[in-house]
Amino acid sequence: MAAVGSAVGLGNIWGFPYKMGSNGGFNFLVVYLVLAVFIGFAILLGELVIGRYTGKGVVLSYNMLAKKYTFVGWMGFLSGFCLLAFYTMLGGYCIRYMTANFMDIFGSKYGVAGRNPGDFFAGFFSDPVASSIFTVIFMLLTLLIVMGGIRGGIERFSVVAMPVLVVLILVLIVKALTLPGAFAGLEFMFKPRMDAFRDMGWIKVFSAAGGQMFFSISIGMGAMMTYSSYLNKKEDLIKNSVFIIIFDTVVAIMMGLIVMPAVFAFGMEPGGGPGLLFVSLQHVFQSMGTFGAFFGFLFYFFVVVAAVSSSIAMFEVVTTSAINMREVKGKAPNRKATAVKLALVAAVLGIFVSADGLGTSKFPHLFAQPTWLETFDLLAEGIMMPLGALFMSLLLGWKLGPEFLRDEITENGNVWRFEKFTMICLRVLAPAGIIFILFGQMDGFFNLNFGPFKFF
Ligand code: PHE
Repeated sequence: MAAVGSAVGLGNIWGFPYKMGSNGGFNFLVVYLVLAVFIGFAILLGELVIGRYTGKGVVLSYNMLAKKYTFVGWMGFLSGFCLLAFYTMLGGYCIRYMTANFMDIFGSKYGVAGRNPGDFFAGFFSDPVASSIFTVIFMLLTLLIVMGGIRGGIERFSVVAMPVLVVLILVLIVKALTLPGAFAGLEFMFKPRMDAFRDMGWIKVFSAAGGQMFFSISIGMGAMMTYSSYLNKKEDLIKNSVFIIIFDTVVAIMMGLIVMPAVFAFGMEPGGGPGLLFVSLQHVFQSMGTFGAFFGFLFYFFVVVAAVSSSIAMFEVVTTSAINMREVKGKAPNRKATAVKLALVAAVLGIFVSADGLGTSKFPHLFAQPTWLETFDLLAEGIMMPLGALFMSLLLGWKLGPEFLRDEITENGNVWRFEKFTMICLRVLAPAGIIFILFGQMDGFFNLNFGPFKFF
């Protein structure tokens, strides 16, 4: 359940609808589902196997299994920082929306009521000070939970909180679907449109869906490995993998069912970018009348819980790796001091991304990305996480082989279901698919414009 809490977060809530919107709707959805089955499942299972076998964080796990692969662990460590750099900002946005809706319950002038949702959002994200403050608050929250030893508490809470979030999402789906003009959103999500592949190039849709999948299921950087290192030998790893993926995917699709209808109903652009969730949701809350502010507050409260339970997973990867390395060097682990230092680095990165104000700053930009959020996002989910998964699938598929997996999976009399399928995925499908994902991400990253691939 803790792993489900870490998987469900802003990836599903914020990332999925916006990336689906920018990548042709239906086409993205279908590719996403295919990739989750053929790549996501095997990679997640692989991480659970490795983590439970070694009982260690990501760097030491690889180090134990194959010395040469230790760098894959370090890539996970770096991914953790790249993710935190923008995740803390988005978490901060959610706290801002939670408080703004809360103010509205009392009719305070600091709320968002009566303001145009698009203008309110633009006013907030382009204000570097306000945005940085909320980013730091979110990072502090993450740090305090990890240091205060109440991690177990928040994870137990998220066992209740996730189902509550699902209920709130269901209410919002009903509201969104009954808005005038909502049907166009459903069409966008479910009506096949081959021209979307032609317009964008299928490789772009493929790689965007692939990156999003790594991010949303939390795979390729060792988070699930780290969680699995605490897992009981009785647990059925196959069942765990299937459950995590299904729950995570269902929440993502449900968020699409809110955002897409709302986007069309309120005359927004589906390809509107990273602000899509915040603006469209606020429109929905405002359409709910006086109850809207309360509902908005409640919804964002649970979104913040989901986001924190994901950011502690990222932070865990980073701190465990650092502490493990201290231990290897014979130093005292010193968990608290290490956590504070690493949180400081993450907060500085977060402030930088916030100050970029979704590209409204005059900051120089790396590669072809319009915002620093997207740059960090691509570095993690577009490059390092797929690469991490690629090396892991090669290690498990070819070097360690099925015997290694079988030993761990069949602990305590559990059965290795889908054995052949898993091995084909690890040996062939995942590596091949990931190479395409990386290829497409490079295309987008450096604006290479691999023209011919557009016409497949
Ligand atoms: N899967 C999480 C989400 O959807 C993000 C995450 C990625 C968490 C990697 C931990 C590790 O928000």
